Amino acid sequence: MTNALPQVYRGSAVGKVILLGEHAVVYGSRAIVVGLDRGAEAEVRAASVAELLLGAERHRLEQTPSAAELPAARAFRALLATLGAGNVAAQVRLGIPAGAGLGASAAIGVALARAVTGLLGARGLPQPAVAGAALAWENVFHGNASGVDTAAAEHAGCLSFRRGELPQKLSPARPLELVVALVESGASTRRMVEGVAQRRSAEPARMDALLDGIAALVARAQPCLERGDQLELGQLMTQNHELLVQLGVSTPKLDRAVRSALDSGALGAKLTGAGGGGCALALVEKGCRSNVLQTWRSSGLECWEKRAD
Ligand code: PMV
Repeated sequence: MTNALPQVYRGSAVGKVILLGEHAVVYGSRAIVVGLDRGAEAEVRAASVAELLLGAERHRLEQTPSAAELPAARAFRALLATLGAGNVAAQVRLGIPAGAGLGASAAIGVALARAVTGLLGARGLPQPAVAGAALAWENVFHGNASGVDTAAAEHAGCLSFRRGELPQKLSPARPLELVVALVESGASTRRMVEGVAQRRSAEPARMDALLDGIAALVARAQPCLERGDQLELGQLMTQNHELLVQLGVSTPKLDRAVRSALDSGALGAKLTGAGGGGCALALVEKGCRSNVLQTWRSSGLECWEKRAD
């Protein structure tokens, strides 16, 4: 009798940067998002107990969930329940920083959902859509996730996204040269989204005007991208940052990173993601890319380059 190990199924997904439209996308406006080249890789196998190994953290799912269950365990439980999967042991490796506005949790959710649907398919079981399971995972962390991160993680490339609709693929007329910097550790997306919601209840007219302003910038940015007008696209990104400052989601360090990128010749710069820390993003021309990289790196920031076409 052979004692074969259970078969391993793999899934992967990418992180993202939001070019324009974060926070407003939660309220039904469009956002433009670009998938990164890196993200998360998951491996799963059938097991007697459901378990998730996330980096160095091990989350074992008890039969009955306890009130003390950590978010990652709750999220894994929600993902398995949405997929109708039984006990699965999973291991995830992350290739981007977590909690920095780069969509790490969505990349993990999509990678896990892909790996688990692979396992279900091999057993001849129905394979529900990855998106629903990834959103169930994401909602445990975000509370009120728009779905922009999971859409980017699933589809990659450059997308126009509106809540509840299928994402539209965008084709930039000229490749976008982007530089991303990890400026400081990020705040929780849930807390940042709730903060905007609270300020919106307190000052509805002012906050809605800001959110509408962001929506208007996104509407202008999409044709810029499609006709290759990167000068205007960059200006719209910088204006988007100014509105995010007024929404109350930027930090002095993010503002300084944006300012220094613009002073180094970037076409546009902004925070990306929920804010409260995390990453800054700059749109650059080839000629000034090394200036921006040098400026950011000389202030001690870790940087990545991304070309989107
Ligand atoms: O999780 P983050 O930091 O990438 O933020 C996602 C973008 C938000 O608009 C702030 C939230 C959402 O669900 O759209």
